[in-house]
Amino acid sequence: MQQYIIGNWKMNGTKVEAKKLAASFLKRIQEATRPLPHVILCPSYPYLSTVVEVLKGTVIQVGAQDVHPEKAGSFTGDVSVTQLVDVGCMYVLVGHSERRRHHFETSHLIRRKIEASIQGGLRPVLCIGETAEERKSGKALHIIANQLLSDLPETFNTHQIMIAYEPLWAIGTGEVPTGEQIEEVMGLIKHELASRMGGGALVPTLYGGSVTAQNAAAILELAHIDGLLVGGASLKLEDFWQIINASTR
Ligand code: 13P
Repeated sequence: MQQYIIGNWKMNGTKVEAKKLAASFLKRIQEATRPLPHVILCPSYPYLSTVVEVLKGTVIQVGAQDVHPEKAGSFTGDVSVTQLVDVGCMYVLVGHSERRRHHFETSHLIRRKIEASIQGGLRPVLCIGETAEERKSGKALHIIANQLLSDLPETFNTHQIMIAYEPLWAIGTGEVPTGEQIEEVMGLIKHELASRMGGGALVPTLYGGSVTAQNAAAILELAHIDGLLVGGASLKLEDFWQIINASTR
């Protein structure tokens, strides 16, 4: 499977910067002489159309950072699957730990968002991960298994979803799990998905949390890694380009 490199720009940048960054990545990718992974950029809502405009008809896809589960209605400040598809999004991050923490998102809500996304033709990237305390007390695998159980819908196809493992203690901290720790969690995710459905192990499993131009290659070489979800480093042209270039398939 071709790897996936997703840039989560979070709440950063201006319209001019978004346009420039998207155009610069595109230029690098078009000039590349080696096979590259799937590349997806997730700008904030106001810049989705701008970035889609720059990338339209190219190999780089666009994703949103969140979505509301209802089709339409009185939900001030929210954005629906239909609207995201309408502006040209193909992917959406769901259940990011920053949404769970700052917006008190529950597994029930996350599952509804995933169901709505799949139904509406958006591919959700479910983000899961344990806290530092949970890791220290030996509960990491248990937490991950529980999140998969409670956040995922009953049925879906392998090509309709992706899973990103983002330990909370690694996000924006510069701390990164060891290759062994990542593989242990990824192996569990693959195993859980395979036991739920035929071909479950083919659901792409990504790692996220303090990925840099320096550590990307070592992570991308791990057996169960199908890609990376990159925050801070995806806002820097050279760094993100090196991360894309570190892909192994
Ligand atoms: P950083 O790469 O900045 O640690 O962020 C990771 C993340 O939250 C991506 O969704």
